[in-house]
Amino acid sequence: MPERHSLEVIWPDGRRSQVQPGQDWLQAAAEAGYAIPTGCLGGSCGACELEVNGQLVRACIATVPASPSGRLLLEIAVDPHW
Ligand code: FES
Repeated sequence: MPERHSLEVIWPDGRRSQVQPGQDWLQAAAEAGYAIPTGCLGGSCGACELEVNGQLVRACIATVPASPSGRLLLEIAVDPHW
């Protein structure tokens, strides 16, 4: 059975947690104690958008990707100045 390495996730507020690739982002966030903002939960409103290592993802419909570096840096994709 192939080994699945857990990844270190650095959340937008600076907290860190260990997450398994393939896990739901919203569940991973809940376990880390971080609240991803949500709206539709269906992938259409964009409220849950995060940047994961610079790639835009909609957390409600995405899962944690594998990362060769073993680490994922998350940022809130919403522009705070609009
Ligand atoms: S909550 Fe609307 S796109 Fe994710």
